[in-house]
Order: sequence, then structure tokens, then C-alpha cells
Amino acid sequence: MRALTGIKPTATPHLGNLLGAIQPALALQDKAEGFYFIADYHALTTVQSAPLMRQYTREVAATWLALGLDPQRTCLFVQSDVPEVTELTWLLSCVLGAGALERAHAYKAAQQDGRDINVGTFLYPVLMAADILLYDSEAVPVGRDQKQHVEMARDMAQAFNSRFGEVFVLPEPMIAEAVATIPGLDGRKMSKSYGNTIEVWLPPKQLRKKVMSILTDSRGVDDVKEPDSCNVFSLYKLFATPAQTAALAQRYRAPGLGYGHAKEELYQVIEARLGPARDRYEHLLANPEEIEAVLADGSRRARAIAVNVLGRARDAAGFLPAPRLSST
Ligand code: TRP
Repeated sequence: MRALTGIKPTATPHLGNLLGAIQPALALQDKAEGFYFIADYHALTTVQSAPLMRQYTREVAATWLALGLDPQRTCLFVQSDVPEVTELTWLLSCVLGAGALERAHAYKAAQQDGRDINVGTFLYPVLMAADILLYDSEAVPVGRDQKQHVEMARDMAQAFNSRFGEVFVLPEPMIAEAVATIPGLDGRKMSKSYGNTIEVWLPPKQLRKKVMSILTDSRGVDDVKEPDSCNVFSLYKLFATPAQTAALAQRYRAPGLGYGHAKEELYQVIEARLGPARDRYEHLLANPEEIEAVLADGSRRARAIAVNVLGRARDAAGFLPAPRLSST
């Protein structure tokens, strides 16, 4: 099975991204042929600063590599290194009614808020469909918020196929069953828009400080505590082994454990998980040529497939053979 997903280089990842998206996608490496790319064309709809674009692109690549993406098994590449995707965006935009774009969530939200959006944002779902269809992707691991976009990609594939013949593979969204809602510092879902995140790559001291700021109730050391309604414990469960989790739950239910102690335990399990990865991350960012070598190789492999699929689409639509495309 071929699984493809895009990661927008727009922000530093937090633990919610790690547990909800990055880890499930990395786990898929054993079961699927992965194509994971950095969606810089998509990011350009909002990131309009060259230094930031370069920085975020390298950070995303370093993040995935440090956390265990194996570039031998999984093709990691940069969207804009395969410019054929913009050509396919045009072909797909010609079989899509404008109404479908007007009904897309992101566009509707912008309309409702009276925000003036750029054409790139309006066309976002078509570019995303091109991403998916250009690699004959079968499964698209995404969060719930992206399901509509994958369904639109499927619709575009069907519309194109019904006019021109069986060119595109019909993709399916693959929604990771949420491990759990990952609570942020204040107990609400961890999300950048709530300002309650714990970033993955904080240095140890800052990580500890953030963990210490997690909201708890006012029970003191000598009070018995309820693990299942505690934000600290909910996060602990996601990083600790089952045995560690059971042991801490027991300490919650007896006097003698202060929330400060529980937070220290939480800090320790997060640090144990992320410490070694943080070293790899920092090594990569200090040696961007290592990152770029991986991306160059990934982009070459991805482009070979893309050129072939685009060739099928062009041919089906009746475009004369392009010398560039027949060379591979
Ligand atoms: N829109 C996706 C997001 O915001 C990123 C993305 C771009 C993507 N192209 C894709 C995801 C193709 C899956 C497949 O998260």
C-alpha cells in the first residue's frame, strides 16, 4: 500500500502533533510504502518570508528524521522539488466546479470572518489533490480536519477518470484513531491557537518549567488524588510504560504524592523519550547539508514517479508528448 502525507512547514511541533500525527505516521513505515513531503507550496499561502520558509523546511525535515523517519524506507521530499505538481493542479482545476472550492472549510471560514484570502488559499484543495494523485497514493494519513480535502481529491480523480479514462488511483483518507485527546497546559486540547502547548524540542530546563506549569486542582500532598481527571497523569500515560503508569496511579490514590512530584515524574518520562532524539535534531540543524542530501535523494525518487503519472494524465487529455516527460 502506498501512503502519502504532507506536512506544512509553518510552526514548531508540539507534543500534540508528535502523538497525534508524527508518531502514527512513523509507525506506518513498517506497513506501507511511505511518501512524506514538506508542503512548502501550501505554506506559501501564509509563510511569506524567505528566511522563515527555509528555516521551517529544515526544521520539519530534521524533526521527522530525528524522530525515526528512515529515508531508505520512506521517501522524504520537498513538494516544490517536484514542480510537476503545479501542472497537475491546472489539469485538475479544469474538471472541478468552482462551487466545490467555495464550499471548502478553509475558504468558508475565511469568508465568514470577512478575511480577504489569496488565490493560493482558494486553490489549496486542488494543489492538495494534485499532491495525492501525482504519486498514485492509496492511503492518505491525515487528521480529521483534512478529511474533506482528501475526499475532494477523490472526487477530482473520479471526475478526471470519467472524462479521460482510468488515469488516477482513487485515494482513501486514513484517520488515525486518536490515541486520546492530548491535553495542553490548561487541560484543554493541546493546540497552538489556545497557547497551551509544550514544544517537542524545548531544551531540558524549559521543558521542565513548562511541565511544572501544568494546571492541577488544589489538593495537597496529603490528599488522595484522582489520576483519571488529572492533566499531568493524562500526559504521563502517553509517555510512560504500562507498569510505570500503574505505579503512578497507585501513588495518586494514596497520601504523600504532591503534584510537584507527579510533574517531576512526567518531566522524566518525556525527557527519556525525547532527549536522544533532541541530540539528533540539533546535530541535523547544525549540519543542514545532511538534511539537504536526504531531501535531494527523496525528491529525485518522488519526481521519477510524478513525471510518469503526469505523463499519463497529459496523454489522456490529448496533449502532445512533451520531450521532458518522455526522457524517463
Ligand atoms: N493540508 C495539509 C495540512 O494542513 C497538508 C497537506 C498538503 C497534505 N498536501 C497534502 C496532507 C497531501 C496530505 C496529503 O495538514
